[in-house]
Amino acid sequence: MKKQIYSLLILMVSGLLFAQENDWFHATMYAENAQALKDANPDGIQILATNGDQSAVYVKEDVAHQLHGNVVIHGPGFVFKKSEQEAISFIQQNFQRAYDVMDFTITEDAYVQECLDMVNAQNIEETILMLEDFGTRYHQRAEAEQAIYDLRDKWQALATAANRTDVSFEVVEHFGTPMPSLIMTIEGAEQPDEYVIIGGHADSITQFASNAPGADDNASGIATITEVIRVLLDNNYKPQKTVQFMAYAAEEIGLVGSDEIAEDYFNDNKNVVAYVQFDMTNYNGSVQDIAIIQDNYTSGDLNIFLIELMEHYNNTGTHALTYTSSACNYACSDHASWKARGYLASFPFEARFNDSNPHIHTTGDVYSVSGDSNHAAKFTKLGLEFIIEVAKRSTLSTSEVSKPSVSLVVNNKELIYEISSASGKIKSLEIIDTSARRVLSKSNLDASGKVNISVLPAGVYVAAFKDAQGKSIVKKFLVK
Ligand code: BES
Ligand code: ZN
Repeated sequence: MKKQIYSLLILMVSGLLFAQENDWFHATMYAENAQALKDANPDGIQILATNGDQSAVYVKEDVAHQLHGNVVIHGPGFVFKKSEQEAISFIQQNFQRAYDVMDFTITEDAYVQECLDMVNAQNIEETILMLEDFGTRYHQRAEAEQAIYDLRDKWQALATAANRTDVSFEVVEHFGTPMPSLIMTIEGAEQPDEYVIIGGHADSITQFASNAPGADDNASGIATITEVIRVLLDNNYKPQKTVQFMAYAAEEIGLVGSDEIAEDYFNDNKNVVAYVQFDMTNYNGSVQDIAIIQDNYTSGDLNIFLIELMEHYNNTGTHALTYTSSACNYACSDHASWKARGYLASFPFEARFNDSNPHIHTTGDVYSVSGDSNHAAKFTKLGLEFIIEVAKRSTLSTSEVSKPSVSLVVNNKELIYEISSASGKIKSLEIIDTSARRVLSKSNLDASGKVNISVLPAGVYVAAFKDAQGKSIVKKFLVK
């Protein structure tokens, strides 16, 4: 009898512990959101510490999910943390940039053009359908783990087909989820300790764990990255810096996979030169093709480099695309995990925030409603431009010799420019700000001269010149 009471007691206590373990977790979130949750659910959240605009919290699962509930299908999120100590130390860390900002340049015209010509939307469709076919990639489901292994096999097959032995794969196990992440590495030939990374999440979510097709969110981003990999390998790409491709676990429950990986990189003092996130690339919801997310969770310096790339490579012709800017204003995807550690991070997105795919996080997020992969193909092009120019290699550039260059000096409210190889007139000049707004335009200029820029407030700008042949020459400048 005594024994029975004991076992009942043990059962009850362990039941309690178990329930607690399952129902409550540590996280960081905006202080403002934490306070609002606490006002509405005094027993459902403890605010452990607050630093600036961030709070470390201990929160009940269903209460945390009200954050999602607030904004129909997604919204201001939280970042899951393994322990109280990690949540608190995270908000107290003052992340310093581990490196100096690079002055990125655009020099690899010939090779980039070859790669852009190779992008094939059909391949993107194939990968999206392969991932959608798992039925669900909810992080706790066996299918999610299988999706990572199948993706590894797919990427591995691309490397094998290209006869590459300098490409390696790692399946990364996590603490916060049974689903692993995948990392593919092409080791840099000259600066292997500098990393250039693109990534996206491989998991999906809906309120029914067994049916979460996640075609746009985010099979599209993984398919975009997969096509970047295919093109690079098929074109015998050998970077100087190390290039990595990441498919994360469990983004949908609080950036779990990317947060653990970015934390490891930071703790190991890894020099990540720049990071670009692909999450939702196939729904063409806005007038413009690509919306550069410009908020506190992305890096202005890198955003403007993406704008420079698009001005240079995608202004006219077969690979033309248009862009704008938008904002999440919360840690809406995995780029936030990198940015939080002081790394440069950007998030080019399928549409302006409010024009994006309305079916995400529902059973209706299927390929047939998201697009035909031509939209996602534009992101593959931007991904290729980013990787090739940032992880620059020495051997393949043939274009520099005849490349027109521009020198820019800002003096006394004037932009003084000189375009070296331009014979005759400059057709046009557009000045673009960090929010992708065209703030000033001029036409029919001389090859060197001055432009009055007294209307421009302090900030970083891109000057995009077009020569008589319509070729663009792009450079950024700073107004103090
Ligand atoms: N792909 C979404 C993020 C997104 C959706 C960005 C729509 C822009 C427009 C991502 O997978 C997601 O759902 N994120 C969560 C936050 C995360 C920390 C759990 C969200 O937005 O609620
Ligand atoms: Zn997503």
